[in-house]
Amino acid sequence: MTEIRLEGVTKRFADFRAVDALDLTIPDGSFFVLLGPSGCGKTTTLRIIAGLEMPTEGRVFLDGEDVTRLRAGKRDIAFVFQLFALYRHLNVRRNIAYPLRSRGVPRAEVRRRVEEVARMLRIEHLLDSRIGRLSGGDRQRVALARAVVRRPRAFLMDEPLGTLDAEFRELMCEELRGLHDRIGATTVYVTHDQIEAMRMADLIVVMNLGRIEQLGSPQELYHRPASTFVARFIGSPAMNLFPCEILEEGHVPVARLAGLPLAGLAAPPEVAEAILGIRPEHVRIDDSSAMRGEVVAVEYLGARQVVTLAGPFGVLKLRAPNTLRLAFGDRLGVAFDPAAVVWFDAGGRRLEAARSRERAGG
Ligand SMILES: Nc1ncnc2c1ncn2[C@@H]1O[C@H](COP(=O)(O)OP(=O)(O)O)[C@@H](O)[C@H]1O
Ligand SMILES: [Mg+2]
Repeated sequence: MTEIRLEGVTKRFADFRAVDALDLTIPDGSFFVLLGPSGCGKTTTLRIIAGLEMPTEGRVFLDGEDVTRLRAGKRDIAFVFQLFALYRHLNVRRNIAYPLRSRGVPRAEVRRRVEEVARMLRIEHLLDSRIGRLSGGDRQRVALARAVVRRPRAFLMDEPLGTLDAEFRELMCEELRGLHDRIGATTVYVTHDQIEAMRMADLIVVMNLGRIEQLGSPQELYHRPASTFVARFIGSPAMNLFPCEILEEGHVPVARLAGLPLAGLAAPPEVAEAILGIRPEHVRIDDSSAMRGEVVAVEYLGARQVVTLAGPFGVLKLRAPNTLRLAFGDRLGVAFDPAAVVWFDAGGRRLEAARSRERAGG
């Protein structure tokens, strides 16, 4: 049972702010992901939570208790760096038991707890095996078992799947999330991989340059990105973004994209320009549309295909059914699903007003 709270946390390295006035509450029992590009301050934030790094300013609370000055060993938080690091000269049982034995836990208690986590991770049958004989997946499970066996109040994981291949990552994502659901301890998970984040998280905080871009559920980040940064970072392919001119036509703001008026789309009021965001799955092929482009790439993805169009608007990606036959150079008209359009100001922040107007109107 642990809520983690950061209050005004800043970390400076000389003049550089690696973490910049971070306010963050990580709810008790949540699977919480810190997501962002390399260098945005994820590891530094995690190390501050762990007590391995002292913030330059601000405070850290565990369940309301100020632990800013408490050293790492006293915080009872497990920091999992890489799931691969096992002791090769010890068997599975001894690997898992290691953290308990080194703390002087009585033998019978060690045995009971090792068997309990082994059951949880479905590796009971491997307890007497040697590490060298295990498959990669089982090795990861043993490493996980070793991390959870001492029942810390929270887990911090820094890109633990970093070195694994794609198939394995997917498996381990499921495994980690399942384990979390069984033990219920607060987990803070760092990754630069948005797919991993979307798969596992209850809540994601997207970081950029040491600051929070957005905090929300995977659904909120996907459908209502707070900025063009988040819109680009979440989703694959990324959201299409088009700078538009906004002109008043009889007191109604109308957006123009490359000179073409976007009739039927509620444009944001009281701005001269705005950025239109639309996900590839919300672009429709519409031959009656004046907005036209030429097919420059088709990426076949089994159930669907991703089509890249080039036109006066720039480059646009859309998802089309796989039954549609398309060739390079085909000309297509496209239209945007009005309910799915997100507007940003010229600086890249989402415009709330346009959204609420849309809802009022529709
Ligand atoms: N000990 C350090 N000394 C100087 N700069 C550091 C140190 N640790 C991290 N940084 C810098 O702080 C920024 C954030 O680093 P980090 O938290 O590791 O980012 P991330 O984990 O998101 O990739 C980076 O620009 C990094 O170079
Ligand atoms: Mg890092």
